[in-house]
Amino acid sequence: MSLYAIGDLHLAFSVDKPMDIFGRVWKNHEKKIWKYWNKRVTDRDTVVITGDHSWGRNLEQSRKDLDFIAELPGRKILLRGNHDMFWDAKKTRQLNEQFRGRLEFLQNNFFTCQGYALVGTKGYCYEGLDTYEHFEKIRNRELERLRISFEEARAAGEENYIMFLHYPPTSIGEAESPFTRMAELYGASQVIYSHCHGKARFDDSFKGYVNGIEYKLVSGDYLNFKPELILE
Ligand SMILES: [Fe+2]
Ligand SMILES: [Fe+2]
Repeated sequence: MSLYAIGDLHLAFSVDKPMDIFGRVWKNHEKKIWKYWNKRVTDRDTVVITGDHSWGRNLEQSRKDLDFIAELPGRKILLRGNHDMFWDAKKTRQLNEQFRGRLEFLQNNFFTCQGYALVGTKGYCYEGLDTYEHFEKIRNRELERLRISFEEARAAGEENYIMFLHYPPTSIGEAESPFTRMAELYGASQVIYSHCHGKARFDDSFKGYVNGIEYKLVSGDYLNFKPELILE
């Protein structure tokens, strides 16, 4: 009964999106995912997949990618990434109904595993791609979703939290952010995130212990597509 995490599978079984142009680590990466996942994860384990699941532009184009994930061993909990066009944030409940028994979707809710509440949201950090006003608007919306996730868990009597984000918890160069402050406020023991691809981005945010919280980067290419152990 272990908890694992991995992010950014970037599957494209239904659309033409060759990933190996991003480096050798992406060559046949879906075969690596299958191989390493089956080696490490059993049907008694849980895996949180931290977003950027599929290149499909809608649910139909993402169905094969989601089916691939659903066929992997263990319980699968999915977080939204910035590329997950199949996932309308307002329709998470419908996704949870449609995929009941196969996949679970984490957004404005929480799940439990081994005495921990698994909470999370996509998050956001400043990457210089939008105006600061737009960045703040998206970040505040994500902070509210994260707060709801924590509060739902707390209202259900949960006291131990593991927090999942798709985006790194801080923008480059920041020593803290509203996301790290929220993790500290609720006493999360770990913050797990992905989104960063390639060596040049792997140090964009925290790794290791900061103010008593352990931060872990679980981007697929960072892990060479081997799910990372979060709880033994
Ligand atoms: Fe990604
Ligand atoms: Fe991403």
